[in-house]
Amino acid sequence: MTLDSIRFFPGISILLLFSTAPVTAAETAHLSIDASKAGAKIDRNLFGQFAENLGHGLYEGIWVGPDSAIPNTRGVRNDVVTALRALKVPNVRWPGGCFGDEYHWRKGIGPAAQRPATLNSSWGAVIDTNRFGTQEFMDFVQQIGSQAYVSINVGSGSPQEAAEWLEYMTAAKPTALAKERAANGHPDAYTIPFLGIGNESWGCGGNMTADYYLSQLKIYSHFARNDNPAQQGEHQMLKIAVGPGTPETEWTETIMKAWQHHDWSWNIDGLSLHWYTVPNGWPPSTPSTGFGAAEYGKSLKSTLFMNDLLRKQESVMDKYDPQKKVALVVDEWGAWHAALHGTNPSFLVQQNSLRDAILASLNLNIFARHADRVRMANIAQMINVLQAMILTDKEKMVLTPTYYVYKMYVPFQDATFVPVDFDAGTYTQGSVTLPRVDALAARDASGKLWLEISNLDPEKALDLDAEISGMTAKSAKGETLSAAAVDSVNTFAAPDAVTPKPVFAGLIGGRLTLTVGPKSVTVISLEP
Ligand code: AHR
Repeated sequence: MTLDSIRFFPGISILLLFSTAPVTAAETAHLSIDASKAGAKIDRNLFGQFAENLGHGLYEGIWVGPDSAIPNTRGVRNDVVTALRALKVPNVRWPGGCFGDEYHWRKGIGPAAQRPATLNSSWGAVIDTNRFGTQEFMDFVQQIGSQAYVSINVGSGSPQEAAEWLEYMTAAKPTALAKERAANGHPDAYTIPFLGIGNESWGCGGNMTADYYLSQLKIYSHFARNDNPAQQGEHQMLKIAVGPGTPETEWTETIMKAWQHHDWSWNIDGLSLHWYTVPNGWPPSTPSTGFGAAEYGKSLKSTLFMNDLLRKQESVMDKYDPQKKVALVVDEWGAWHAALHGTNPSFLVQQNSLRDAILASLNLNIFARHADRVRMANIAQMINVLQAMILTDKEKMVLTPTYYVYKMYVPFQDATFVPVDFDAGTYTQGSVTLPRVDALAARDASGKLWLEISNLDPEKALDLDAEISGMTAKSAKGETLSAAAVDSVNTFAAPDAVTPKPVFAGLIGGRLTLTVGPKSVTVISLEP
């Protein structure tokens, strides 16, 4: 079809095609989508973030302090808040991570000048001023329009310490702790929708056996109460237990088997899973810049293992919880590359390329396909650490390719999964063979159909011919994220190397046609 033929054809939507790089001849892939077929809700909490007290994730990345020359609101940098608001971040996990099991909340409340300096022993033994504590975190979450996912310290804390932190944050009645919170500037009880009970308790969180952790879990789950009157009944805080960090299922077996017979005195609503994409194994050695198609393919192949991992853990959960009451919460995931040369290796600083953006889309699509069980996920991490949304350097800020994927996926938050049938074949690079395409479709509350297509092939564009049934689509529009090379990155000097551009979509009757460029993520909306 030519532009001219479309122009004279009624009921056709035309948008400008943007191509970021020369492409070799396109092949055609056929997709079919029945928009009336509804699957599970793609919970908005799948698009959660993780902000640990690690490197420059919090300090400098979020918190610059009220006296900083960097524009801020009560110490939280304004540029970062504006950028994050656009992502509609559903929840932010804090304070850890490994750091969570060494965090003692009392050190992070009260007048800033009186807060003690402590060591961040998990991450480089640097001085922690504790200037970013409970109040600052809750303020940050409120400024970006998100919700709190607080991890309590099981490794080096106590049930009493956790119970008191919860009371400090959530008691509405005038208890001594609620009065202390009011004296510190927040009379109203905070809302804590999600509570993580420990972190990687099989590793940095105390090197516990599954049975030992289970006995801790029962205690913490019982005593860490949320007293906020608005969070009782159906709005109650969801408790998330530590889950596995390997494909092994022993940990999941132990927790879920016990949960099946739990009584009134303890409960969990979620089981966590941690899994990073580390293509060459530990310690992470893949470069985050300056790599080619072979490294790219290897990373994508490695990341697709997430699907098998979820299946494996879900099969155990299904055995003990066929009604899927307990969510699988992938609260740490993402690409973990080698630390950038010249940075503190404990700060986990890496660049973020087009490869990472495509890797993010593949994982988000996997989560969406498992949405009946996987109802929350947190990419690691939000700013300046691992697969970040944002990089900062003093007053400078740059949005990463992964940031743009999250922005393009906003319409999928709380949308209803719609199955897509497609087979676009594979592409091979050296010893790695990958599906050429991945796709996700969903319907939002207004009836719009959203279609995401990832073209993994680094060389070939793809013509898409999609048959849409189950709705009458009147117009189509969208945008695509790609760049000159798989390792293209955004830098402070060139912040727009990888940014979404409008894409051309043709719609005739129930047929959507478009061309997606090589190594690209494209999102199209179809208006009913
Ligand atoms: O995200 C970095 C670290 O990775 C977290 O602190 C820990 O939970 C995981 O091992």
